[in-house]
Amino acid sequence: MSQVVKTFASDNYAGVHPEIMDALGRANTGHASSYGADHYTAEATALFKKLFGQQTEVFFVYNGTGANVLALSASSKTFSSVICAESAHIYVDESTAPEKFSGCRLIPVSSSNGKITPEAVLSKVQRIGDQHHPQAAVVSISQPTEYGTLYTVEEIRELANTAHQHGMVLHMDGARISNAAVSLNAEFKTFTIDAGVDVLSFGGTKNGMMFGEAILIFNTGLAKDLQFLRKQGMQLHSKMRFIAAQFTALLSNDLWRRSALQANKMAVRLSGKLSKISGFTLTQKTEVNGIFAVVPPSVIPEIQKHSFFYIWNEKTSEIRLMCSWDTSEADVDSFVEVVSNALQNH
Ligand SMILES: Cc1ncc(COP(=O)(O)O)c(C=O)c1O
Repeated sequence: MSQVVKTFASDNYAGVHPEIMDALGRANTGHASSYGADHYTAEATALFKKLFGQQTEVFFVYNGTGANVLALSASSKTFSSVICAESAHIYVDESTAPEKFSGCRLIPVSSSNGKITPEAVLSKVQRIGDQHHPQAAVVSISQPTEYGTLYTVEEIRELANTAHQHGMVLHMDGARISNAAVSLNAEFKTFTIDAGVDVLSFGGTKNGMMFGEAILIFNTGLAKDLQFLRKQGMQLHSKMRFIAAQFTALLSNDLWRRSALQANKMAVRLSGKLSKISGFTLTQKTEVNGIFAVVPPSVIPEIQKHSFFYIWNEKTSEIRLMCSWDTSEADVDSFVEVVSNALQNH
């Protein structure tokens, strides 16, 4: 039997929450219509509409890359550009899928904390109307960002206003949106549709689902072709009930909140304790479930022997630690001890 080891590598390393497993088991009864024409899909869709408003269009997909690519495809034309942070998942961690499937040019803006500003966006809105140049169509932000930081509601509203004033739409990559919601202590609606977001990739996998994400379209004009794009993009699940049933479980009984809260709380505990150790220097505020810090390169292999994590930036020896819905206080405390010993002996 393999040893049960919990790491701080990624919230994708965590397993499936038992309540999600139960929901999958319950959905695994008899036959149900395929491709989303089943009552499980109707139920999950209704829950999303209750949270975000009845006009919201809901499309379930397999993964986060698929959600982002389809959200961008629906919001742009093949000669468009998408403005995003240089650390954006769509720019650095989705290979060339966004470009291949949407046809768009991704235009990165530099940022030290994963957030972009209206000024930075405007600096890339260039040569509009010039047939030789990509036409800016989308601003894409991640909430939380890939650096575990958060936009305030006001910052999102300003980005949305900037985008709209220039005929662009605002896409939000919410792969960890539940972690953002608990940290902001805000309803999902407040920092998405009410702040001017047009299209949202709503994450489920990192918050305890086995697989599945949802594309939520608030600017309903963008939904027109989504069902065709989803099929063309190979993201239409025939047994859709198994994505939908997971979302129903996640959105019921506050499971999304309990799971994200646990991950965030453990990250705060971990960064609080680690930041007191000499040689461990936080590089970002711990606002959700990720911790970013610089440590001496020589101690990294020793700490990784206890619990694997990723080196975020080899050049600066910056590491990333992620907590998950299943991270416990004991996991945190034993990791802190390992780091403390490694740095003392260094
Ligand atoms: C910010 C962000 N967006 C999207 C994703 C989704 O990626 P995947 O296609 O692996 O589900 C991730 C996963 O790491 C992510 O961190």
